[in-house]
Amino acid sequence: MSTIAIVSQKGGSGKTTLAVNLAAAAEAVGQITLIIDTDAQATASQWGSWRNDRAPEVIDSAPPRIQHKVEQAIAQGATFIVVDTPPHADSAASRAVEVADLVLIPCRPSAFDLAAIRTTVKLIRLFDKPAFVVFTAGPPNAPKIYQDAIDLVRGFGIEACPHLLPDRAAYRHASAAGASVLEFEPDGKATAEIVALHMWACAHVNMSISQHVEV
Ligand SMILES: Nc1ncnc2c1ncn2[C@@H]1O[C@H](COP(=O)(O)OP(=O)(O)O)[C@@H](O)[C@H]1O
Ligand SMILES: [Mg+2]
Repeated sequence: MSTIAIVSQKGGSGKTTLAVNLAAAAEAVGQITLIIDTDAQATASQWGSWRNDRAPEVIDSAPPRIQHKVEQAIAQGATFIVVDTPPHADSAASRAVEVADLVLIPCRPSAFDLAAIRTTVKLIRLFDKPAFVVFTAGPPNAPKIYQDAIDLVRGFGIEACPHLLPDRAAYRHASAAGASVLEFEPDGKATAEIVALHMWACAHVNMSISQHVEV
């Protein structure tokens, strides 16, 4: 079982998009998945309500309750928990990192966005947790942009995830329909990318996917 915190102080960096689609990728391979929405704007919860209770389940949580909700979910059999957080370094982000086995920091590969994640990186350093920047919503074919971004975040003392989530219209269309990209465009590039990211995340937390597939 593993808990993944999605953290970035920058609004619009792709936290909720990553949270719901990563959870959907987990659900698709049979992991018992829960999204904990700690953002008062409740975007992930909105997505959940558009789905009329179709899995993955989305619950909300005030920051002081995050740990309790994670423990409760694990006791009830959850194997993959994703915690979405608000766009500021408040207690929700800290509490989410505290309970996480892996922290992902979505960030657009642009100078302003990259500069802004320094504060997030400082917050995460207070906890001894594996953490990676995930580049989101950048141009799909621009290796130089990503190489520069990787070098820059290394300079902040953090590694980048080798899997990118470049700009794909499927994310916008899927979210608007209360769907994941896996449901919206099963054979699309966005789906292949999020599935690869999910497998990578499982490997990082020593979680074998096959062990968690429900037969
Ligand atoms: N990889 C992507 N490709 C295309 N659009 C994206 C991608 N990631 C995020 N977006 C879009 O960017 C906007 C902000 O994303 P969101 O996940 O709500 O960010 P946050 O939760 O960090 O505020 C949304 O409209 C979302 O659809
Ligand atoms: Mg959000």
